[in-house]
Amino acid sequence: LADPSVDPDLLLASPLAPSKLSGQPLPPQLYGAERRNSSGVDLAVIAERAPLLAAGRALTSIPSVPEASSKGAAAAMDRLDAAWAGWNATPLAERCAILDRAAAALDAALPEYCALLVKEAHKTWPDAVAEVREAVDFCRYYAQQALHRLAPVALPGPTGEKNTLHLHGRGAFVCISPWNFPLAIFAGQVVAALVTGNTVAAKPAEQTPAVAARFVELLHKAGLPREALCLLHGPGETVGAALVAHPRTAGVCFTGSTQVAKIIQRTLAAKDGPIVPLIAETGGLNAMIVDSSALPEQVVDAVVQSAFRSAGQRCSALRLLCVHEGIADGVLHMIDGALQELKVGDPADLATDVGPVIDAEAHANLSRHVERLGREAKLLAERGAPGGSERGHFIAPAMFELAGVSAMKEEVFGPVLHVVRWGPGTAAPDVETLVAQINALGYGLTLGVQTRIDSRAQRIAELARVGNVYVNRNMIGAVVGVQPFGGEGLSGTGPKAGGPNYLPRFCGEQTVTINT
Ligand code: NAD
Ligand code: ALA
Repeated sequence: LADPSVDPDLLLASPLAPSKLSGQPLPPQLYGAERRNSSGVDLAVIAERAPLLAAGRALTSIPSVPEASSKGAAAAMDRLDAAWAGWNATPLAERCAILDRAAAALDAALPEYCALLVKEAHKTWPDAVAEVREAVDFCRYYAQQALHRLAPVALPGPTGEKNTLHLHGRGAFVCISPWNFPLAIFAGQVVAALVTGNTVAAKPAEQTPAVAARFVELLHKAGLPREALCLLHGPGETVGAALVAHPRTAGVCFTGSTQVAKIIQRTLAAKDGPIVPLIAETGGLNAMIVDSSALPEQVVDAVVQSAFRSAGQRCSALRLLCVHEGIADGVLHMIDGALQELKVGDPADLATDVGPVIDAEAHANLSRHVERLGREAKLLAERGAPGGSERGHFIAPAMFELAGVSAMKEEVFGPVLHVVRWGPGTAAPDVETLVAQINALGYGLTLGVQTRIDSRAQRIAELARVGNVYVNRNMIGAVVGVQPFGGEGLSGTGPKAGGPNYLPRFCGEQTVTINT
C-alpha cells in the first residue's frame, strides 16, 4: 500500500472490487464508496423518497435559536480554553467512537435533516440528500483518518534513545461556516476540530442556524461532552469577529467568502496571544475549458449541472465557460435548449431543478449584476423564473457572452453563466494563453476540461493553478475521501476537506525524546 493512512483490513472488507474504481476503494460504510459523485443523487431511484416527503410535511416551522453577543462569545472561549486539556486527554478511540455514533444517528435521521435543509436553506430534495450523506461521510471518514493519522509515530534514534512524534489538539478552535452547505460544511469543520483534540466554538451562518443547532444536539447525544463544544449564533461581524479576536483562540477554520477570510487573517495577525493557524476555504471564479474535440452532449450536461444546479450557489460552480470558437455556436444553442427544460420553482416540489437564492440580499446583488451584464454583455439565453418574493427569491438562470476572460472580476454566487470564445482570432488564440488568463484571475478552486485529447487535458491540469480539476464530467459535488476538495490563491489556504491531509492541520505536534 502506497498510502500508510489506508487500513489494509478495511480494503479487504470492501465489497467493491478494486477494478471498479481506478484508485483505492473506500471503506464500504462511506456513501462515497457507492456513489462516486454526490452531485448525482437521483430521487426517482432512491428508496428514501416517501419518508422524505413525510418529513417535509411534518416540519411546519423552523425552530428558533438564541443569539449570542460578543461578550458571550468571549466568555465561551474562556470556558472552552479551560476545558481543552480534559478533552484532549480523552482517548483517541473514544473521540472517534463519538463521530461514528453521530454518523449513524445522522444517517438514521436523514429525512428529518433533509426537510430542514429544504425549508431553511431552500435546498432541492436531491441536494438535501447529497448534503446529509456528505455530512455522514465527513464524520465517518475523519473518525477513520484520525485513528491512523493521529497515532503516535515511532522515529529512529541511536541505541538507548526513543523518539516519538505525537499529534494533539491545539486548544479552543473557532469554526465559522457558510449557509450554502449549512450541515455538511458545518459538521465537517466541527468534527475535524473535535476529533483532533480541540474544544470548539462553532459559529454557523446567520441564514441557517437551525440545522446547525440540530446537529450539535445530535453530537451531544452521541456522547460529546457539553464542555467540548459551544454553539454561538449571531452576526459574523460581531459574534464571529469576537471569537476570532479572542486572545486564547488556538486556530480558525473558516469557510465563506474571500473577503471575510481576509478580514479574519488581518485580525489574527493583529491580535494578542500566540501565532495561530487559519484554515480558509473561500470563493471561486471557476472556468470550464471546452476544446473543439469535446463531445457536445457531454458538455451540455456538465455545464447545466455545474452552473445551474443548487441555483449556482456552490463555491465549486461553473462561472466562466470558455468554449472553442470552432464549436461554440452549436454548443451554446444546445445549452440554451437544455436551459429551457429546467424547472425553476419551489424547492419543496420533487421535480424542481433550480430553487430560489438564499435571501433578499443575495437576490439584490445578483439582480444588480444581471442588470449590468444586460448593458455590458450579450444575453445568450435565459430561463424564466417565478416573480415576487413570497415563494422565494428567484433569479432567472441565464447565460451571457463576455468580451474576454478578464471581464470576470469576482465570484458571482448564483445561476448566471458567463461565456467567452477562444481559439485563433480571439484574445486567447491557444489553450496555454487561455489557462494563463484564467490563472491571472487569482482564484483557484475548480476547473472543468472537456476534450477528447488526453495529452491536452493533462497539459491543462499541469498549467492550471486550481485545487480540483474535473475532466469530461461536471465540476461539482466533490466526494469525501474520493475527491479531496479545496483551492489555492484567492480560493483558500488548504488543506483539502475530505482528504488525508486535513486533520493534521488542526493539530499541534510534539516530539518526545527519551534517553533510556
Ligand atoms: P460569508 O463570508 O459572508 O460568511 C461566512 C461566515 O462568516 C458566516 O458564518 C458569517 O456570519 C461569518 N462572518 C462574516 N463576517 C465575519 C467576520 N468579520 N468575522 C468572522 N466571521 C464572519 O459567506 P457566505 O455568504 O455565508 O457563503 C458563501 C461564500 O462561501 C461564497 O463565497 C462561497 O464560494 C464560499 N464557500 C466556499 C467553500 C469552499 O469550500 N471553498 C464552500 C462553501 C462556500
Ligand atoms: N464540496 C462542494 C462541491 O464540490 C462545495 O460542490
